[in-house]
Amino acid sequence: MGETFIPLADLRYAAALPRVPAAHETRPPDGLVADRLGRPLHDLRISVTDRCNFRCSYCMPKEVFDRDYKFLPQSSLLSFEEITRLARIFVAHGVAKLRLTGGEPLLRKHVEVLIAQLATLRTPEGQPLDITLTTNGSLLTRKARALHDAGLKRITVSLDALDDAIFRRMNDVDFPVADVLAGIDAALAAGLAPLKVNMVVKRGTNDHEIVPLARHLRERYAGRVVLRFIEYMDVGATNGWRMDEVLPSAEVRNRLARHFPLEPLDPTARGETAERWRYADGSGEVGFISSVTQAFCHDCNRARLSTEGKLFMCLFASRGHDLRALLRGRRPDGQGYGDEEIAAAIGLLWGERDDRYSELRGAGQAAAGSGERRIEMHYIGG
Ligand code: GTP
Ligand code: 5AD
Ligand code: SF4
Ligand code: SF4
Repeated sequence: MGETFIPLADLRYAAALPRVPAAHETRPPDGLVADRLGRPLHDLRISVTDRCNFRCSYCMPKEVFDRDYKFLPQSSLLSFEEITRLARIFVAHGVAKLRLTGGEPLLRKHVEVLIAQLATLRTPEGQPLDITLTTNGSLLTRKARALHDAGLKRITVSLDALDDAIFRRMNDVDFPVADVLAGIDAALAAGLAPLKVNMVVKRGTNDHEIVPLARHLRERYAGRVVLRFIEYMDVGATNGWRMDEVLPSAEVRNRLARHFPLEPLDPTARGETAERWRYADGSGEVGFISSVTQAFCHDCNRARLSTEGKLFMCLFASRGHDLRALLRGRRPDGQGYGDEEIAAAIGLLWGERDDRYSELRGAGQAAAGSGERRIEMHYIGG
């Protein structure tokens, strides 16, 4: 479609300058945009910082993300106003759910101010958006109340082990598990519900924590916390992923069911990442996110916006589309781009989308990509 891929000053990943179609080529967004595989646009996942205070080896291995690693400079980050402007445009295209991610999103200064701005947005039908956030929980005891008061409704906490020694080893910065557990308590006390806990399972590293963590959350929260098990993914290029470290969800489920009988639940929405099950004794629900053994690309309705405003169409993409260039750039006549023009550019990009990395990987075809470096999880969020 004639996009030019240009190197940028703060280049991490190649970014294309989106084409802005002429007015006669498009119509205003009607919330019905679909990609080449017929998938609508429903979720926008917004990374607000590429920094994190943890160094989980599957995401930010210490050897790579060390003292010399250059994170994005402040000047290249989208401002809260720029993020909100883009979110509004995405909502016009049908987005109804926003997820703030990072890195660790609570490290972004005054992130609650951004939440307050996003909370004012409405769908074309006048409904508020489903706004949520993924955090490692380390700052939650301090921040939960402010996040809730700003308009955040629910939250997802990443937690890979209940055992303190294993948790400290996995976050690799010696962070104690008790502080994250206290963060979960604080979030619930502040009214952030439902609360989800995401556990990435790595065979041989934390798979023996599956049952203890599930037991703890069942006993302590009696259905108010949904634990979801995530298959360890080959995302990015730095985590040294190996298939033999993936514990398939089916096996996780069997191990869990030996202790706590489970019953399947119907999906709540199209394009959901997790397969839902409930404890047969009525003490709540668990989820299984199986992007390695059971890819869910066929319904993938998620777009991802990086901290400096690049739009990625897939978690495994190498190239983004530089929306910041439209936000800050000028048309040939010297005027800034209007919302309609940016909306038209985004509509065009979504219409061209044909990404389905996990399915191709499953079919043994994923390596057929461009050979370019894939984006990292700490940069684009989960
Ligand atoms: P809820 O609305 O709370 O159910 O959120 P969600 O499941 O859409 O998002 P969440 O961030 O909790 O996703 C959990 C994990 O699933 C992420 O950390 C990723 O590991 C994985 N994941 C989420 N979206 C995708 C995706 O589009 N592709 C792949 N391959 N994995 C994904
Ligand atoms: N595989 C699966 N999930 C991952 N996450 C980060 N890296 C990976 C990976 N390689 C998850 C984290 C967190 C979210 C931000 O992304 O556990 O829940
Ligand atoms: Fe770990 Fe999340 Fe930080 Fe990555 S962004 S290092 S998964 S806490
Ligand atoms: Fe969507 Fe890409 Fe994940 Fe498939 S691999 S579900 S297309 S983000």
